[in-house]
Amino acid sequence: MAEKNVLVLTGGGDCPGLNAVIRGIVKSARKKTGWKVLGSIEAFNGILKDPMEVVKLNKKKAAGIHVKGGTILKTTNKGNPFDYPVENSDGTWSTADLSDELLRRIKELNVEAVINIGGDGSQRISQKLHEKGLNIIGVPKTIDNDLSGTDITFGFRTAVQIATDSFDKLVTTAESHHRVMIMEVMGRDAGWIALHTAIAGGAEVCLIPEIPYDVNKVVNHINKRYEKGKGFVNIVVAEGAKPIDGNTFAKASTEAGYEHKRLGGVAYRLSEELKEAGCKADIRETVLGHTQRGGTPIAFDRILATLFGIKAFELVADGDFGKMVAFKNNEITAIPLKEAISEYNYIKTDAYEIKAAKSIGISFGD
Ligand code: F6P
Repeated sequence: MAEKNVLVLTGGGDCPGLNAVIRGIVKSARKKTGWKVLGSIEAFNGILKDPMEVVKLNKKKAAGIHVKGGTILKTTNKGNPFDYPVENSDGTWSTADLSDELLRRIKELNVEAVINIGGDGSQRISQKLHEKGLNIIGVPKTIDNDLSGTDITFGFRTAVQIATDSFDKLVTTAESHHRVMIMEVMGRDAGWIALHTAIAGGAEVCLIPEIPYDVNKVVNHINKRYEKGKGFVNIVVAEGAKPIDGNTFAKASTEAGYEHKRLGGVAYRLSEELKEAGCKADIRETVLGHTQRGGTPIAFDRILATLFGIKAFELVADGDFGKMVAFKNNEITAIPLKEAISEYNYIKTDAYEIKAAKSIGISFGD
C-alpha cells in the first residue's frame, strides 16, 4: 500500500498543550497502517523556506513530550502564507501571497492532509487553504480562550492557574503593605483569563476588554475598601482593557509580518489613571506577560490536547476535512472551520460568571 503523509504544524503564539496534541496525532497515526507524520518547522515557514524545514515525527520524537511546554515544531505569528513577509533587495519588507506556492510544495511532499494547530488567525488561514482545495483539519489553541466553536481551548486553564498562583502571592504583599496591587494578564480582545483569575483569587477589581471601565467608579470601590479599614486592594486587568471613551493600550509592531498590535503595559496606565482620579493608596504594578504561556500544561490541558490530537487524526483518516476539532457540552467533536471562525468568543456582558463575580463584590468599573 502506498504510504500516506499527514503534515502537522503549530502556528501563532505558543501555548501549553501543543506538544500533547502532536503526541496524540503521532500515537494515533502509528496505529493506522500506511500513515507517516511529518512536521513543518515554524508553522508554514518550514514549507516555504529553501531548503524546506520538514521533520519526520516518529514514536521516539513524540515520547514524553505531552508534559513539556512550548512546541517541538517551533512556531511563529509572522507566517501567514496569504500575506507572507518578503524582504526586498533594499532591506525593506513587503508581503506577498505565497499560498499557491505553499500548496505546490505540500503536493510535492506527497502530503495527503494537513493538521494546523493554532488560534483564530491560524484557523482563518486553514479555511482559506481549504477553499483552495487543501485537505486540512484545525486544532484550536490559545491561552486567551477567545475561539468560538469550542467551549474551551487547551492552554487556557494552565494560564489561569499560573495567573492565580501569582495573584495569591500579590495578595499577601498587598495586605502587608496596605497597597493597591495591579496584576496585568493576557487577553487582547477577551477577558477570560482575567475573569477566571479574579474569581479564583478573590480580586476586588477585574477589568476586561468587554466592559470599558469608569476609573472614578474603580477609585470609589477602592476607597470603600480602605474606609472599611481593610486597607488593601487586588486588581486583575486584562491587557486589552480600556477606559470608557479610551483606547486599548497598544503600540504598532515593527516586526515584519506581525499582524497584531503589541499589547502589554496597561497596568502602568491604569496606575496613573487611579492616582489622577484621587486614589491615595500606594500602587504597585505587575505584568505577568509570557509567563502565562510557558511551562508545563496542567493535567486538564494535557488531556484536552491529547484528545484533540487523536480526534484530528481520526478526521484525517476518515477524509472528513475542512473541520476544526472542538470540545462542546463535555464531548470531543468537530465543527466546520467556517463556523469556527465566524464569530469571536467574547465574554457576554450578561454572562452568569460576570453576574456571579459582581455578587461577591468584584467591581468591573461599570
Ligand atoms: O494570543 C495569545 C496572546 O497571548 C495574547 O494575549 C497576547 O497579546 C499575544 O499572544 C502576545 O503574543 P506574542 O508576544 O507572541 O506576539
